[in-house]
Amino acid sequence: MIDYVLASSIVLAILLVPRLWARILLSRAKHRTLQGHPRLALLLARSVPAYAYGEEEFFGGDQAPAEVVRSRRSGFEHLASELRERAPRTLELSAELEGSLSDLAFVNAYRVPFQYRDYAKAHLRIGSVAARSDGPRVQDLDGNWTYDLGGAYGVNLFGTDFYKRCIDRGVERARELGLVLGAYHPIVAENVARLKAISGMDEVSFHMSGTEAVMQATRLARFHTGRSHAVRFAGAYHGWADGIQAGVGNPRPVKEIYTLREMDPRSLEALAARKDIACVLVNPIQAMSPNAAPASDSTLLASDRSAHYDKARYRAWLEDLREICTQKRMVLIFDEVFLGFRLALGGVQEYFGVRADMVTYGKTLGGGLPVGVVCGRRDLMRRFRDDRPADFCFARGTFNSHPYVMSTMNEFLRALDAPEIRKTFEGLEARWDTRARHLNQRLIDADCPVRVQNMVSVWTTLYTRPSRYNWMFQYYLRAEGLSLSWIGTGRFIFSHDLTDADFEHIVVRFTSAARRMRNDGWWWSDPALSNASIKRRVLMEMLRARLGRATSDRSTPPEAGEAEPCGTS
Ligand SMILES: Cc1ncc(COP(=O)(O)O)c(C=O)c1O
Repeated sequence: MIDYVLASSIVLAILLVPRLWARILLSRAKHRTLQGHPRLALLLARSVPAYAYGEEEFFGGDQAPAEVVRSRRSGFEHLASELRERAPRTLELSAELEGSLSDLAFVNAYRVPFQYRDYAKAHLRIGSVAARSDGPRVQDLDGNWTYDLGGAYGVNLFGTDFYKRCIDRGVERARELGLVLGAYHPIVAENVARLKAISGMDEVSFHMSGTEAVMQATRLARFHTGRSHAVRFAGAYHGWADGIQAGVGNPRPVKEIYTLREMDPRSLEALAARKDIACVLVNPIQAMSPNAAPASDSTLLASDRSAHYDKARYRAWLEDLREICTQKRMVLIFDEVFLGFRLALGGVQEYFGVRADMVTYGKTLGGGLPVGVVCGRRDLMRRFRDDRPADFCFARGTFNSHPYVMSTMNEFLRALDAPEIRKTFEGLEARWDTRARHLNQRLIDADCPVRVQNMVSVWTTLYTRPSRYNWMFQYYLRAEGLSLSWIGTGRFIFSHDLTDADFEHIVVRFTSAARRMRNDGWWWSDPALSNASIKRRVLMEMLRARLGRATSDRSTPPEAGEAEPCGTS
């Protein structure tokens, strides 16, 4: 009897210990921030109470002296009237749209931290309508030209004129066939051949957005491996599909996705120990800020945004992932929807010298029209099995391979052979690094606590001195004629046709916006102020709001904490 119990215990232990160990490794591989715990983040997000700063808190929430508060007020009023008077028609149509266009209402709600939202929205209005573009500039309905640093969400790689040409020619070439779906326009054959050559893969599928391409790639990986889970890395965006986007923003807690630490050996250990992982998704833009979500000004309550890009380290990380995925037969998917073609003609695979099993593309590849593409190994792309005919992996889409999209994409793909486009890739990294250094030097010279960090032509803004007001910078940039995407100063996306002369105009405007913001007093800061103390205070406000107490408690002592060194300015 004892022997039987002992033997059963040993068998049980042999069965359970590896599982337990795999579970422990998985826990260790989760990033310690909320980015690494999407379910917890979702729970906490639901309990954050709404509260808004009144005027007093809005201008002096950091206990700035009276003269600084006065200067902020007058700067704010000046800025608000400048933005208002300059673009009345644009603002009027934008406001009308916001009432009925859900997307715009959402975007506008997340331009600044929610505590500042009501007051900022009531006074600082910026337009969301554009009438025309010319090179790197866009014009609003009132005739104002601004430099567009939003980069059409990354689509605009070669300049707006380039995409106008692609669309015009594409429409011309597809016209004869017109809207015939189901049968393919012959141009599809050339697109497939070119995409195979670029990606080094065997097969291609066309979809209507990057989100769909990622959905299809992960579905195929599950189909072929027979495994349940996909891995994404903390903070990485892969579109908004229900089964992929985990955490805040998706009301449904996502099962069957593991969110692990990027660039961390603990993730490799966790991957090695598991048997349920179908695929590993990588979004290489995370090289700039691993484990952090895209830096949005709506969460910019302190100055602790960070970014640093180390190409060699990221390459080594991709090589490690490649090795473990090969060993464990997990499908390695490079999600190149954003960065494909921006870093090298052969995309991220060529740029880092690491090969994936599947690659997703989108954005710029459509030549200006919407698209998503999956390229992959034949054994992974097949949607059916010869040996089990009733078991297949369904994927269709009415507008897949739309003739106009295919012909416009063909213009884009052919253009990659053009000498003038090839030339833009020569000395690419050095050019953009030099430009970033140049702007940083100008910011240092101007004694402003702002810096930029870049991964080639994708930039982010960093703030070197603790402050609650950095989110105001987006409005100063706008007033100086620089348009940003809705996440504000967290991401600038440049097109590669930008001339040195245009870049210099941007530098002048950027520096002047920073100088203006500094002169208006927004970057005044008590030496005792630190990012930690700002965050502690905000946390206390939230707790008070949760308990139903007033937030503008002026009896609160000035923020004091471990003083952080001011930046280099
Ligand atoms: C890496 C990545 N994957 C997927 C997507 C989703 O693409 P789309 O917006 O076309 O659905 C994006 C969009 O920004 C992206 O950056």
